[in-house]
Amino acid sequence: MKIPLFDLTRQYLKIKDEILGAIDNVISSGRVILGENVKNLEEELAQFIGVRHGIGVANGSDALVIALRALGISNDDYVITTPYTFFATASCIVRLGGIPIFVDIDPNTYNIDLNVVEDLMDGKIKIKLGDVEVNPKKIKAIIPVHLFGQTVNLERLENIRKKYGLKILEDAAQSVGSIWKYKNGEIKKSGSVGDASIVSFFPTKNLGAYGDGGIIFTNDDTVAEQCRILRVHGAKRKYFHETVGYNSRLDEIQAAILRVKFKYLNGYIERRIEIAKRYVKLFKDENLMEIVKLPNLFDDRRHVYHQFVVRFESEKVRNHVKQKLENKGIGCSIYYPLPLHLQKCFGNLGYEQGDLPISEKVSKTTLALPMFPELELEEQVEIVSTISKSLKEI
Ligand SMILES: Cc1ncc(COP(=O)(O)O)c(C=O)c1O
Repeated sequence: MKIPLFDLTRQYLKIKDEILGAIDNVISSGRVILGENVKNLEEELAQFIGVRHGIGVANGSDALVIALRALGISNDDYVITTPYTFFATASCIVRLGGIPIFVDIDPNTYNIDLNVVEDLMDGKIKIKLGDVEVNPKKIKAIIPVHLFGQTVNLERLENIRKKYGLKILEDAAQSVGSIWKYKNGEIKKSGSVGDASIVSFFPTKNLGAYGDGGIIFTNDDTVAEQCRILRVHGAKRKYFHETVGYNSRLDEIQAAILRVKFKYLNGYIERRIEIAKRYVKLFKDENLMEIVKLPNLFDDRRHVYHQFVVRFESEKVRNHVKQKLENKGIGCSIYYPLPLHLQKCFGNLGYEQGDLPISEKVSKTTLALPMFPELELEEQVEIVSTISKSLKEI
């Protein structure tokens, strides 16, 4: 049985008529750039997240650059982020002339370790980039990533902002709809507490387009206005440029598609949660809970399972399991095989192997299993039994 890691076509078959209708409406209207669909999607999603403004842009990577620039980050500014994420989380800092400071992750969630962030800001941990010791007072911002669909502790993030005056840009590319429950019972969504946040509409994302797309969220009117200007070449009025910006608009057809899919988003998330619970049960039934580390299920948050990532005791075991799954035609993938602080393009920052040991270990031992709302129980049974058998061989 061939099982894909992700399958766009199963979902499309169920909503095909609506999608084709939405595309037809856009083209028939003749308004194909920044029309009603982009505007309405921006408003609908901003309301869903719980913020005042949404600004649709060409992709999540541009959303990060534009939002970070609107927050005032430029040459030589230090920005804290995680090394265990997609490249764009850190490249946006460098693209603006800033300097990323990578902080290791929490091995239970794979998200940035906020204890380390606080220790660094308090001067309890010294950071040296090459020969230069970073003065924490010079750190301007932090980009936490709600990785694989699990929210960083939003309550703590808000406290960090208050305590240290850091700008926060939430990278919610993978986590649309994920929730954090505050100690006082309040509930907030990822993307709602930062000075700005971004979501990616890359096709494999939980709210995915049929092409590229992204959005910036903010409660700050000035930041919103700046982002709107930056996405159209820095022009407030057409052909009159306040600054040199980008051509980075969310495509009107993709916005129309996303508005159809948005109606089903909560249902898709519920399905992902169900599938995650089914995985846990299947791993338990196979007595694998001691050998395979599954994503933790916590009461104080809603994980939206953009990815279902499991961890093995060593790189050798992980690679063996991966090979066996692939031999059977079961899709799986390594997110992410090389942490960002060790990427060649960031070599000038002076990081070395061993500097961020948790990220390095996790990169070598994790594996993402098939996860999408239409994944069937019998497919999950096959996946887990293949893993179980492969573990007995080693
Ligand atoms: C964590 C994270 N940040 C940023 C991005 C960039 O989004 P995009 O691919 O839409 O440019 C992605 C998506 O791949 C991502 O997973």
